[in-house]
Amino acid sequence: MHALIKDLKNHVGETVRLQGWIYNSRDSGKIAFLVLRDGSGLCQCVVAKSPATEGFFDTARKLTQEAAVRLTGLVKANEKQIGGHELEVTGLEMVGESVDFPISPKPHGIEFLFKHRHLHFRSRRQWHILRVRHAVIDEIRSYFNRNGFTLIDTPIFAPAAGEGAQTLFQVDYFGEPVYLAQTGQLYVEAGCMAFGKVYCFGPTFRAEKSKTRRHLTEFWMVEPEIAFAELDDVVALAEDFICSIVARVLRDHRADLEFLGRNIASLEKITKPFNRMTHKEAAEVLRGPRAKELLEKDLTAKTARIAEIKTLLAEKEAKVAGQGVKQWEKDKLVGEIADLKDEVGDLEVEVTNIPHHIELAAKFDPGGDLGGSDETIISRLSDKPTFVTHYPKACKAFYMKQSADDASRVNNVDLLAPEGFGEIIGGSQREDSHDVLLHRIHEEGLNPDDYAWYLDLRKYGTVPHGGFGLGVERTVAWLCGLKHIRETIPFPRMMGRFYP
Ligand code: 4AD
Repeated sequence: MHALIKDLKNHVGETVRLQGWIYNSRDSGKIAFLVLRDGSGLCQCVVAKSPATEGFFDTARKLTQEAAVRLTGLVKANEKQIGGHELEVTGLEMVGESVDFPISPKPHGIEFLFKHRHLHFRSRRQWHILRVRHAVIDEIRSYFNRNGFTLIDTPIFAPAAGEGAQTLFQVDYFGEPVYLAQTGQLYVEAGCMAFGKVYCFGPTFRAEKSKTRRHLTEFWMVEPEIAFAELDDVVALAEDFICSIVARVLRDHRADLEFLGRNIASLEKITKPFNRMTHKEAAEVLRGPRAKELLEKDLTAKTARIAEIKTLLAEKEAKVAGQGVKQWEKDKLVGEIADLKDEVGDLEVEVTNIPHHIELAAKFDPGGDLGGSDETIISRLSDKPTFVTHYPKACKAFYMKQSADDASRVNNVDLLAPEGFGEIIGGSQREDSHDVLLHRIHEEGLNPDDYAWYLDLRKYGTVPHGGFGLGVERTVAWLCGLKHIRETIPFPRMMGRFYP
């Protein structure tokens, strides 16, 4: 009977057939230990030399990394083994050879791994991350479906900018310029006037000319939009939605998070209510002593960690070069050295940047947008996510609703994930007055003809409405505790990266 590794607990004492790829192997002359990967988990499969295994024992010993096989055998419980089970192999069928698989268990640089992304995501770390991504996407869909939202698919070829014109990708559409969608928002606004509560969910594109850990040029965004809603309704929806995503991942993917070294206790603190502050309050924090103290403390801690790592590196390098170290031990040390070098490299960059970030925060322009380092500061001041609302109109998109008590600000909201992860949601109440919106379109130098249909929504039964966009990759990076979002999507697209 064919079984999946994840289901072996139901087959203890039975003979089953597994199919998959060789993740790892070693042999002691009389026994071959094969770690099989089948997409659902890992299982050690043991082939002992005996008359029963004579026909395939030599093949088993020679199996290389990523060779595809079918293995038949008896399932045994074994707490010490990966996954808690072991297969005592009684049959082996070779399916596909693998010669010189380029990604060995030894460390490789990031460039190399991403050039081989089609093979790289077979590795354990990537497998755990992409499983969390799957759960986040599944929860997004089920959250909106069970809460009465209708899915409205929005176009990817867009006639005009939805967000800033400077991040548009232009495409030749039978001789006319069109743009890859930066957002589906304008279209879900039309949708919510037809269905009340709607959402779109798909890939969005931004020509971000910066190579940061938070930016992709192609990323997935879910955008709910609700009619008869003001800013507080948008904030309440975002808060409830985030809690349901976090709860789902904690319920079903604890083991994945543990493998990734995620601090789970900090995710358990993600409960209502989240923090809330205005942009004005955020500006005061950034310009005040708390931000400076936080960064100065960082500088001291990071400098100390660099010194500590350098000592560790010297010790480990001496050990590798020494006599009598077994090969497996050497491989382990080489891996640890590479990880420490990566960490020290990152820390050195951070330490050089901190004085600049201190200066940026101290001189923060109360009329400007929050930069990446500013978001990091605000999001580290508390264990909970922070909603920052009411940004200056001048630094935000044309469609945001002007605040009733301060015409220089808008009813918008960004949600900053804690622990320095920064913005994962951007949203707002939308401008529902035809004349104010038209004025804003002119003010921003946009062509009103491109937005005639969008202005129509304000002519025929306009109502207060709003919504937000959540970036899937930034959310997964936060939940998994990853520094860079490039690992959160199967095939990342960034400036300078579009292969494979
Ligand atoms: O704040 P943004 O630009 O909002 C909008 O696009 C609105 N139209 C959404 C709406 O109100 N319906 O983007 C929303 C989210 C960000 O908070 C972030 O999570 C993600 O999309 N995002 C990116 N993720 C990865 N790479 C990029 N270049 C991103 N730009 C935005």
